[in-house]
Amino acid sequence: MTTGNASPESPVRVAVLGAGVRGRDHSRRIRSSGGLITAVAEPDDLRRERLAAEHGLPPEACFRDWRDLVEHAAGQADAVLITTQDDDHADPCVRFAELGLHILCEKPMAPTEPDAARMIAAVERAGVVFAVLHPLRYMPYTDVVKDLIRDGRIGEIVNVEHLEPVGAWHFAHSYVRGNWRREEESSSLLMAKCCHDIDWLSYLIEAQPVRVASFGGLRHFTRDNQPAGAADRCLDCALEPDCPFSAPRLYRSCFGDRDREYWPLSVVTPTLTEGALREALATGPYGRCVYACDNDVVDHQVVALDYGNGVTATHTVTAFTEMGHRRTRIFGTHGSIECDGKQVVVHDFRGHPAVAATTIEVPARAEHGVADHGDGDRAAIAAFLTAVATGDTSRIRSGPRESLASHRVVWAAEQARHDNTTLTVPDPLRAPACTTAAP
Ligand SMILES: NC(=O)c1ccc[n+]([C@@H]2O[C@H](COP(=O)([O-])OP(=O)(O)OC[C@H]3O[C@@H](n4cnc5c(N)ncnc54)[C@H](O)[C@@H]3O)[C@@H](O)[C@H]2O)c1
Repeated sequence: MTTGNASPESPVRVAVLGAGVRGRDHSRRIRSSGGLITAVAEPDDLRRERLAAEHGLPPEACFRDWRDLVEHAAGQADAVLITTQDDDHADPCVRFAELGLHILCEKPMAPTEPDAARMIAAVERAGVVFAVLHPLRYMPYTDVVKDLIRDGRIGEIVNVEHLEPVGAWHFAHSYVRGNWRREEESSSLLMAKCCHDIDWLSYLIEAQPVRVASFGGLRHFTRDNQPAGAADRCLDCALEPDCPFSAPRLYRSCFGDRDREYWPLSVVTPTLTEGALREALATGPYGRCVYACDNDVVDHQVVALDYGNGVTATHTVTAFTEMGHRRTRIFGTHGSIECDGKQVVVHDFRGHPAVAATTIEVPARAEHGVADHGDGDRAAIAAFLTAVATGDTSRIRSGPRESLASHRVVWAAEQARHDNTTLTVPDPLRAPACTTAAP
């Protein structure tokens, strides 16, 4: 296995591909976990220079495109962090794996299975460490829930009900006006937002689904639902003050709040002034009426999952909520667990009629509200750095095979939704494609 110069004694050197929101956050986490940022590739001057300044990078370690970094990285980095957009993960992964660099990749691996398969072939051929950032697997909260299940506190799991409440303003920001609004330019909503959830359910249940069905669609954020008299931009709209999706109200409310100035405001305008925001809302994508965008991803979806071992689950994702932590109810043969990202409540039916409820508080360690996934991002990065430094990959919970397996469930669910059918999910390690399930 090629490990560059990484060792338990010297910090793992990481080149960052894409210095956007996640690239900047993860670079900080890499540094605070003992790693070293040694190069960056980012076409946006401000973002590149900001990251270079923060990590003390000389001009010769800064590039506009990850392709320009290829030669430099071979001598100066042990690993790359891939935080470019969804459809630009596969090519850099393959290229840098060929050079023997370890790969830490944002989800999704890739929007399509052939690209994800290329990535796996490349990293396995090169023998490099590869991890996908599925932070939910690494949250301390997940460990609490998993330990309860493993300790038999609810008996055998029978079914699970899981909700991803995206939040109305967050949905409008990312999936109506923003980067993940069009499937052909990024991914389906299920892949972009919920590959984590589908992956997490498999991790909890300790099995892969064998059959899947799904329903959902774009119900609300369409031209048909634009109120009479509304304008196509919030700044021109007489109805804006009372609109739940007012962009000026959302983004102006971020001023003075450090976390929200960073996200979502800095995505809209890198210059945090009222004038710059006004200009961005007048001309940019984030000032558009939510009923007059070019979005096509669904705004609500349900997925039904059969794990083939007597366990079933449902997953719901919806725009029409307050933004919050995922909520899950796990039903077992002699108890249940209800959890909301902060608190885990266990009911034990064996005490009937006095059903005992035990509440476990899981302290949230948040750097940027829910954006750091309950410390899961930091823990995932620390596990990757340890694996690179020691060669021991046992702490990586979301390697190539686990990630491909859960991505495949997402692709199958999307196909089932489009084809209005139930699909058998292919074996994660072998079968090449989905097949229609026998009735
Ligand atoms: N794990 C999670 O929960 C989570 C959350 C949000 C985003 N993501 C994923 O992380 C990735 C990045 O998301 P983001 O919000 O940081 O997006 P972003 O748009 O803020 O950042 C992507 C950056 O890549 C840069 N880039 C484009 N072409 C490049 C090239 N050729 N070379 C180098 N850089 C290039 C862009 O200029 C941009 O700054 C996406 O795949 C996204 O789906 C994951």
